[in-house]
Amino acid sequence: MCGIVGYVGKQPAAPFILEGLKRLEYRGYDSTGVAILADGAFRVAKKIGRVANLEKEIGRQPLAGTYGIGHTRWATHGGVTDANAHPHVSSDGKIALIHNGVIENYAALKQVLLGQGFTFKSETDTEVLCNLIAYHYDRLSVAGDENRLLAAVRQALRHAEGTYGIVVMSVDFPGEMVASRKGSPLILGLGEGENIVASDVSAIVARTQSVVYLKDGEIVHLTEKNFRITTLDQVAVAPTVDKVTWKITDAELGDYTHFMEKEIFEQPVALENAMRGRFSEDGSTAQFGGLNITPHEFRGIERFMFCACGTALHACMVTEHMIERFARMPVECDYASEFRYRNTPLYRNTLFFVMSQSGETIDTLAALREAKRKGYQVLAINNVVGSTIAREADGGIYQHVGPEIGVASTKAFTSQLLIGAMLALYIGRMRDLSFGAGVRYVAALKSAPDLVRQTLLQAPAIRAIARKYAHYTDMLFLGRLSLFPIALEGALKLKEISYIHAEGYPAAEMKHGPIALISEKCPSVFLVPQGEIVNKIVSSMQEIKARKGPVIAIITEGVELPAGLADDTIVVPDCHEAVLPIVMSVPVQLLSYYIAVARGCDVDKPRNLAKSVTVE
Ligand code: F6R
Repeated sequence: MCGIVGYVGKQPAAPFILEGLKRLEYRGYDSTGVAILADGAFRVAKKIGRVANLEKEIGRQPLAGTYGIGHTRWATHGGVTDANAHPHVSSDGKIALIHNGVIENYAALKQVLLGQGFTFKSETDTEVLCNLIAYHYDRLSVAGDENRLLAAVRQALRHAEGTYGIVVMSVDFPGEMVASRKGSPLILGLGEGENIVASDVSAIVARTQSVVYLKDGEIVHLTEKNFRITTLDQVAVAPTVDKVTWKITDAELGDYTHFMEKEIFEQPVALENAMRGRFSEDGSTAQFGGLNITPHEFRGIERFMFCACGTALHACMVTEHMIERFARMPVECDYASEFRYRNTPLYRNTLFFVMSQSGETIDTLAALREAKRKGYQVLAINNVVGSTIAREADGGIYQHVGPEIGVASTKAFTSQLLIGAMLALYIGRMRDLSFGAGVRYVAALKSAPDLVRQTLLQAPAIRAIARKYAHYTDMLFLGRLSLFPIALEGALKLKEISYIHAEGYPAAEMKHGPIALISEKCPSVFLVPQGEIVNKIVSSMQEIKARKGPVIAIITEGVELPAGLADDTIVVPDCHEAVLPIVMSVPVQLLSYYIAVARGCDVDKPRNLAKSVTVE
C-alpha cells in the first residue's frame, strides 16, 4: 500500500518519478505527490486522485531538478485531501519525506513536537515522522555532525513504532537521500550515475535491472554514485546485488484495455511458466528446486497448515482439498490475519505454508513470523522474487508468472492453484499415489494451459451473458468440494471490481440461510462439474429456480441439465480433478470482468483497494 519513488542522478527527476508512480499506482491511488529539490528549496506538487491529475498540474508548471521523491497514497491516517498527500515537508522547511506504512505512536510524538514548536498542516502520521526527523536534524546541526541527515533519520526511527518504508531528503544536502524500511518493502535500483529507491521493481526496471532488496531495520544513504547500507544500530551491511529478470514491457498494457483483461488472457503462458522444469524425468511426479527440505524430511511431515489472505487464501483452500484428496494427509487453512492472533495449537511435525502473490502482505508476513517464532519450518508460495516473504521463509516455490498489475488477482491465482495441485502430487507420490495415477496426473497438469486457452475462446459469449446480468445488485456463487473456494473467489472478484454484493457458498449450504436472499432479483452462478455430486448440485439449482432466482450454470462438457433449469450456460472442457478449479476459474473471472466493464467500473483500480496490503 502506497507506492514510493526516490531519484538522485543527472536526469530530470520529476518525469521519471511520475512514470514510476504510474507503475506503482496499483499500490494506492487516493492521491499523488512529488517533491523536487532544486536551488536550496523543495518544490512540492500534490493532488488527490490519480498520477495523471498531478501530471496535468505539473505540465503547467514543470518542476526542474534532478533529485526528488514521489508518492502514491492509499489513505490510512487522515482523509483523502491534498494536504494529507505526501511528500510532507517539516514545518521548518528542512526535511521532505515520503512514507509507506503506519506510525502507530504518532499521536504521542505529535504532542511532544507541538511542545517543541513544530506545526502541522495535515492529519497524517507521516508528517509527524517528518517533523520528528527535523527535530533530531536540528539538534545534530548544533553539534555539527557531518552525516547529519542519516544520523537524524536513525535517531528519529528509534522513537517511531509501527511500519515504514521511507525516503528522506534535506535542503542542505542536495544529491543525498536516506531511505529505511521496517515492514514495508523498499528496493534500491543501481543505475549509471543515478540511484533509485522504490517500493517495487516496476518503478525501477525502466532504468536498471540491478537491484538491492533492503531488509527490515536497514537504512541506506545514497547519492548518484554511491550507496551505503547500515542497520539502525550502525552495523555495516554488505549488499547483495540481484538482477531483475523481467522487462519493462511485461508491465505494460499492450493491446488490452485493462491489466485484469491482459492477465486473464496471459494465463495459459503463466501456467506454462509456473510448471516449467517442475516435473520429474519419469513424468510421474512434481519436483521443486527451492523447498530446502529433503524428501526424507518431507516424509516425516504429518500435517500441513496454510495461511494467506483474500484470493491467495482461496488458492490455499483448493490446495487443502487436493492434498487431502490425492495425498490423504490432513491440512488446515486459516486467514493469516486471524492466525497471527488466535494462538492456534499446532501439531508437531506440521509443515507451515504461506501463499502470497506480492510477498509483502503484512498479515501473511506476520503469520509466517509467528509460525517461525514457534519453531516451525515455513515455506512460501510467492510470485514476487526477492519479496519479504520469499526472503524470510525457509524455502518455497516461486510462481514465475511475471508482474501482476491488476488489483484483482487472476493469473497469480490460477498459478497458485497449479502449484498447490503439483504439491499435492509431490506429497501423494511419496505416499499412496501410484506411478500410473501420477503419470495421468502429470499429463492432466500439462494440459491445463491448453484447456484454459480453449475456455478463453468463450470470452465473447461470456461477455454477452455478463451484459445481461450487469444491472443486478446481489449475486450468489455456489460450488462444492474443490469448487467451493472457486465460488468464494467468484464472489470476491465480482464484488471488488463491480461493487455488486456477492457471496460464495457451498451449494448445499445455500438452504441454511442464503436461500432467503433468492428472488428474481438475485441470480446464482453454479459451478457444475461432471461427477458423483452433479445430481446434488442440480437439486440445489431446482431449489433456486423454484424461488424464481435466475441461474447461470458453468458446467463441464458432458453435464446435462434438465431443460430450462439454467437461464444461461457456459460450458468448459471436462478435465482431471486436479485441473478443474483452474479451468473453472476462467469463466468466473471473465464474468466478473465483463460485468464490471459493462457497469463502467475502473477495473484495474477498484475503489478503496490496493494491490499489496502492507498495513494491518
Ligand atoms: C483479490 C486480491 C486480494 C489478494 C490479497 C493477498 O483479487 O488480489 O484478495 O489476494 O490481498 O495478496 P497477496 O497474494 O499479495 O498476499
